Amino acid sequence: MRLLEGRTAIVTGSSNGIGNAICDVFAANGASVIGIDAVEGGGEAKTYIADVSNTSECERVWEQISSSYDHIDVLVNCAGITRDAMTRKMTEEQFDQVVAVNLKGVWNLTRLIGPAMQDCGAGSIINISSVVGVYGNIGQSNYAATKAGVIGMTKSWAKEFALKGGGVRVNAVAPGYTMTNMMSTVPEKLLERFRGQTMLGRLAEPEEIANAVLFLASDLSSYVTGEVLHVDGGMRL
Ligand SMILES: NC(=O)c1ccc[n+]([C@@H]2O[C@H](COP(=O)([O-])OP(=O)(O)OC[C@H]3O[C@@H](n4cnc5c(N)ncnc54)[C@H](O)[C@@H]3O)[C@@H](O)[C@H]2O)c1
Repeated sequence: MRLLEGRTAIVTGSSNGIGNAICDVFAANGASVIGIDAVEGGGEAKTYIADVSNTSECERVWEQISSSYDHIDVLVNCAGITRDAMTRKMTEEQFDQVVAVNLKGVWNLTRLIGPAMQDCGAGSIINISSVVGVYGNIGQSNYAATKAGVIGMTKSWAKEFALKGGGVRVNAVAPGYTMTNMMSTVPEKLLERFRGQTMLGRLAEPEEIANAVLFLASDLSSYVTGEVLHVDGGMRL
């Protein structure tokens, strides 16, 4: 069964890692996939280049997309960055960059696409949070703040976009540590510790996060909204 047959989906952060895996899984399930990323990527999505933290770039890209597609069924806000440092050493720039991409970037596109879905009477929005937004992490106070903020926005939008029969579902996925470029600078000793913190004794593959996103994007989750789905191998930080 192809779960997204005939649906159109936008995925940010589509050129690498988890976003790229989401595009592939969506395409394999029959969706037309539109990617938005700061850099070109291979894979299944037609990619629009934009910086999600830049409000006017997002408006420009949305104008282009909405003139080519009747409606959007699924939005996945996946683009994200880290700028890790202990708080005593963290610069204002490190704090601001992470807030701009991970928090404002999610708002920038959802403020355009959420209301458009509401006007159509249906849609599914999935925001990629993190275990770090739920449990916190040493050296990631900026990142944790944005990922907790994403959960707050998710719950607010689940209420807001359902108003007047809006029919839009909004959920978050909180992945555990997943083998992507984002993890490439983490020392092996720390990766080993992360593995040990999971009940399954290993890190996630991007496809395992993508499959959870597929569930929330599809009608299999038709009565699920305002939720945070933890996909972390039973991790407890
Ligand atoms: N990898 C993990 O362990 C992990 C764990 C939990 C949550 N996450 C979250 O999952 C999401 C994807 O992470 P990943 O591991 O695949 O990272 P990644 O670095 O492999 O990919 C991130 C993608 O986002 C794009 N991007 C970054 N800044 C952008 C911007 N300003 N505008 C447009 N695109 C931009 C990058 O170009 C890249 O293609 C992020 O939101 C991340 O916080 C990752």
